[in-house]
This record gives sequence, C-alpha cells and structure tokens, in this order.
Amino acid sequence: MLVLGIESTAHTLGVSVVQHEHAGEPISIRSNTLDKFPSTREGFIPRKLAEHHANAYRSVLEQSLAQARVQLRDLDAVAYSQGPGIGHSLRLGYAAAASLSAFLHIPLVPVNHGVAHIEIGRETGHLQDPLVLYVSGGNTQITLRDKKTRHYRVLGETLDIGLGNFLDHVGRHLELSPPDAVGVMNAAKKGARLIELPYSVKGMSVSFTGLLTRIERLPKNERKQDVALSAQETSFAMVTEALERALCHEAKPEVLLVGGNARNPRLQEMVRAMSDEHNARFGCPSFELAGDNGAMIAVTGLKMLEHRAVPRDKKPKQKMRIDEQKITW
Ligand code: FE2
Repeated sequence: MLVLGIESTAHTLGVSVVQHEHAGEPISIRSNTLDKFPSTREGFIPRKLAEHHANAYRSVLEQSLAQARVQLRDLDAVAYSQGPGIGHSLRLGYAAAASLSAFLHIPLVPVNHGVAHIEIGRETGHLQDPLVLYVSGGNTQITLRDKKTRHYRVLGETLDIGLGNFLDHVGRHLELSPPDAVGVMNAAKKGARLIELPYSVKGMSVSFTGLLTRIERLPKNERKQDVALSAQETSFAMVTEALERALCHEAKPEVLLVGGNARNPRLQEMVRAMSDEHNARFGCPSFELAGDNGAMIAVTGLKMLEHRAVPRDKKPKQKMRIDEQKITW
C-alpha cells in the first residue's frame, strides 16, 4: 500500500509518500519533502502562511513523487493533517488532499497532528507503549495510551502557551537570529550565568507566561546569551520534572520525546538522563522527523486505514485534541 501524506497545520508544508508491504513489517518512508515559512520578527501571519503553502504546493508535491519514484495513479490513499492548527493553513491542506482523493478515487484519511507526532516516534524508535512528552510551538503535553478507553490520556499539559511559543517569544524579544527557539538554542550555547527565573510546575502541568513576563522585564544590560541559557534551562527543567512525576506514577518502561522542540539536544539530554535514572528506555525521532513533516501524517494515515480507524468527519478542526482520536492499532 502506498499512502501520500500532506502536512500544513502551521509554518511547514510537507508532502511524503510511505509504503507498507506486509502487516507487522516496518513502514518505509520513500520521500519526505517540505518547504517551511521562515520565522520573522512579527511572528506568523495566518494569511501569509496559507499564501506560502499555496505557492509551494505544486513543487513540493512533484519533488515528493519524484523522490519516491511513484506517480499519482500509483497511490492507494491520501492522508492530511486535520488539526489542531491555524485555520487558513489547515483548509489549504484539506483542499489539496480532498481534491486528490476525489480525482484519483482513493480514500481520504484525516489525521490528528499530535497523534502523528507520537506515531512517527513509536514507529522509528520501535517503542510499544511509551510515556510521551510532546513539545512544539502550540503544544506541551504529557500523555500515554489508555488501554481501556483506547484513546490517549493527557496527564499534564501547559496551562497557557506551548514550550515552543514561549521560546519563540524569547527569541523575538532578544532580537536573536533567527528570532525563534532556534535562535535561543544557539545563543544559550554561549551562555555562562544562570539567572533565577519563576519556575511554575503544578502537579504534572506547567505554565510559561509568568516566566516570559519576568524575562521581558529583565534589565537591558543582561547578556542575551545568559537570558537564553536561563530561559532554556528553567523551562526544560520544568517539563522534565513534570514528566518524571508522571513516569513515577505510571511506571512505564519507555519514554518518548516528540514534537518540533524535541530537536533541541539539551532537552534530549535532560529527558534522557531522567529516563536512565528510572531505567526507562528513551526514544526521540530523527531531526527530520521530529519537526512537522508529511511522513508522520502518511505513516499515521496508513495505520488508521489498516486498522479501520478513519473518522467520518473529514473536515479540518482547528482545536482538535490529542485524546479525540480512537487508537485501534
Ligand atoms: Fe507539530
């Protein structure tokens, strides 16, 4: 079976083709191409994101098909990212996927973006039933599969903004280059002094806005590298502490770190060290597969098709939650 996946929830337009020969065998990713809207000092303007995705769609699709050495008529299904995400971008991915599905007479599979981040981590890391820390721009959640309800259960999450949005704000405030979480990560490497900042963990949930306000009010003469280091160390320690509490409660043998911010080596180091202390196996997708991409959508769509988990409602859902999707695989 060959499945095409389209990702368009936020700044990335991604298209991928994946293949599954036999049930029980690993899924092979034949192509995974993307075009990302660059970070700007204004942040993301929804209309501009959708314009970027519309302009990039044809070439990203053609590149992905060429890299996979397949033609449109070879496809068995098309999966797309149903939500959560930015409305303008989501609707564009839906229109692209729905028209391919109608034109080629193949099923349309709407995929929960959060579940897809986890699924690509489970598939490539060969993990069965991990405790998950999902960290990205809009999401920060500690979650696991609930065998009874066959849904993900959220144990803890951000009570305000996502970890990635917090770091993006810090990057813009410090006028780093790029003005986002990557800028903070690069500046933090040259940080030397840890500035004491508010540390807000509530049970297994966390909150970042108090921390952000404090950073915005720091004296102007603080070194940017020290502020970046302190922002990272404090926020990463918060999510790792909350995750450790969840791990002690649930006693899972595996820990999986996923989402765009899982690409930060310092966060990986902290979560790995905590997992080692509790004898839990640590997993994290590769750099290309941790951020938003088409392959995670195609892989999850394929599993949903094979396990009859395709929902009837195929329209985009801006506020879709990770615990809405029934997990039948
Ligand atoms: Fe994402």
